[in-house]
Amino acid sequence: MNISQVLQSAVQRNYLSDTATVDCELLLCHVLDVDRSYLKTWPDRELSSAVEEQFEQLLERRIEGEPVAYLIGTQGFWTLDLKVSPDTLIPRPETELLVETALDLDLPRQAKALDLGTGTGAIALALASERSQWQISAVDLMPRAVQLASANCQRYEFENVEIFQSSWFAEIPAQRFDLIVSNPPYIEDGDRHLTQGDVRFEPASALVSGSDGLDDLRLLIAESVNYLADRGWLMVEHGYQQGPAVRELFRQAGFSAVETRADLNGLERITLGCS
Ligand SMILES: C[S@@+](CC[C@H](N)C(=O)[O-])C[C@H]1O[C@@H](n2cnc3c(N)ncnc32)[C@H](O)[C@@H]1O
Repeated sequence: MNISQVLQSAVQRNYLSDTATVDCELLLCHVLDVDRSYLKTWPDRELSSAVEEQFEQLLERRIEGEPVAYLIGTQGFWTLDLKVSPDTLIPRPETELLVETALDLDLPRQAKALDLGTGTGAIALALASERSQWQISAVDLMPRAVQLASANCQRYEFENVEIFQSSWFAEIPAQRFDLIVSNPPYIEDGDRHLTQGDVRFEPASALVSGSDGLDDLRLLIAESVNYLADRGWLMVEHGYQQGPAVRELFRQAGFSAVETRADLNGLERITLGCS
């Protein structure tokens, strides 16, 4: 079969996905090691049986619900192409709001920033790509996430990022940051979303945080005040229904200028405050 025929049949079989066409194109690009424009340019190109077989295996896993990013091993975030693995969350486009908002803050030219729960390194590396003068630290609890973030950092040769294993602040030497950012786990234990879609394949360590989803946010909002410079900022991502509770936690910890921003869908997504 040629490219066009293989794709047409694959898209029909992948009907449960909201992104059926893009999924199939990305999988075929991965197998052929080409970009999507190649598929449009050469729709009549015949595929070898080896390629068809490899594509078929990935397609079957996609039809079972496995995220495309895990199947192809990468995900775009900000301007970066990041390696991903089932050891941590696949970076989401919504999290770019956090990066955008952090870049808009009035911070020292050589700001010290900390990314808690860095996963693939998405937030820390996006900030590093825009601010070469900043000194950025990034930590994760999971050693394999630390390895992944380090590999992503090496790929882009960022020299202003250090990445290490720590449970939140536990291994972070006493110091003051101008900015602390985090997209921590914030889903309630037993939430029905955990059994749906891509999330089924992501580790609980990246998603779940106690009976109300706020265990980690509670801890890191309270602890951040001990690591922020005077007029430093804390910014966290949270669930779309957690805005009021998170703002209250910021106020209880003594933050001022507490504010929540909504994402492109109008859902409350990040909260920030000044120490
Ligand atoms: C929602 S994911 C976010 C990953 C990445 N920052 C992003 O936005 O794509 C949360 C991350 O927090 C990490 N994590 C969970 N508990 C932690 C802890 N106690 N200390 C540090 N990191 C933790 C998880 O391993 C996971 O990588």
